[in-house]
Amino acid sequence: MNAKKMILAAPIQGWTDHVWRTAHAQIFGGVDAYHAPFMRVEHGNIRARDLRDIQPVNNPGIRVVPQVLACRPADMELMLAAVTTAGYSEVDINLGCPHPPVARKGFGAGMLARPEALRQLARVMAHYPTLRFSLKLRLGWDAADQWRNVLPILSEVPVAQVNIHYRLGTQQYKGEAMLQYVDETLQTIPVPVVLNGDIDSPECITQLLDRYPQVAGVMVGRALVADPALLNPERANADNYRAFHDQLYEQYCHELTGGDHQILAKMQSLWERMLPGADHRARKAIRKATTLPRYLDAVGQIF
Ligand SMILES: Cc1cc2nc3c(=O)[nH]c(=O)nc-3n(C[C@H](O)[C@H](O)[C@H](O)COP(=O)(O)O)c2cc1C
Repeated sequence: MNAKKMILAAPIQGWTDHVWRTAHAQIFGGVDAYHAPFMRVEHGNIRARDLRDIQPVNNPGIRVVPQVLACRPADMELMLAAVTTAGYSEVDINLGCPHPPVARKGFGAGMLARPEALRQLARVMAHYPTLRFSLKLRLGWDAADQWRNVLPILSEVPVAQVNIHYRLGTQQYKGEAMLQYVDETLQTIPVPVVLNGDIDSPECITQLLDRYPQVAGVMVGRALVADPALLNPERANADNYRAFHDQLYEQYCHELTGGDHQILAKMQSLWERMLPGADHRARKAIRKATTLPRYLDAVGQIF
């Protein structure tokens, strides 16, 4: 693998929070920077758990890039101020969230179809000249040329990097990433581009970097949640997977205050994506567990 290219962990809301990122960095690694799931404003305030998630004290020793999701300039301003206060010098702008209720209001990928909203966004970004901005976008909301609507931002404010998930918002996660657009984006976008979408093995990364040597790097999401050792295969063994699981479990026991039910639900949701090839019956027992001891028994059948 080309050592000079950035290998980034994609933000996956509900999975790659500070607990996951910290355990991942300590046990598996292979990631240059972890992109945090988006922060957002609700009822005029940044959600408390979003703020907690990005605090450096909760992300010891790892490079985290916070991400903000907003369509109102005031909300964007609030969050950029908050990440600056938290001590960050880089932040990612979410122009990719495809969730229809979110996108229809003009957030995430929905903003790609709204050039005026993008212009307003650039005005807010210009208030933070010391922040290193990256944009995370889809090819478009409902047309594969809408990424071009961000080009004016790139000439108005310094953007260090553009991370592109090569799908449309309206596709959600269906179909395949449309890599036929990579050349066009690389030729047109005047800042470094990171490829994202369906990258699921070290071989796939090598192939992409060979085929597109001018990219700045790759960003890996779901496949890394499925196999946390993906980027460091020599660490793929039962002891490390067990240690990773146990660190997540212990940390969630410590942090989640909603009792056993909440911890169980959190761990069960992780297993919806983690180690899909693990013993089928044990995975089913994990899904069906109704208490933490039963859950731990089922996990014991896997490691
Ligand atoms: C459940 C889920 C949550 C996601 N949350 C975020 C998010 O908070 N911010 C973001 O920019 N992208 C988010 N994404 C998109 C991923 O970062 C990534 O762009 C997408 O999954 C494609 O990459 P992959 O095929 O490597 O997973 C999410 C994706 C999924 C499946």
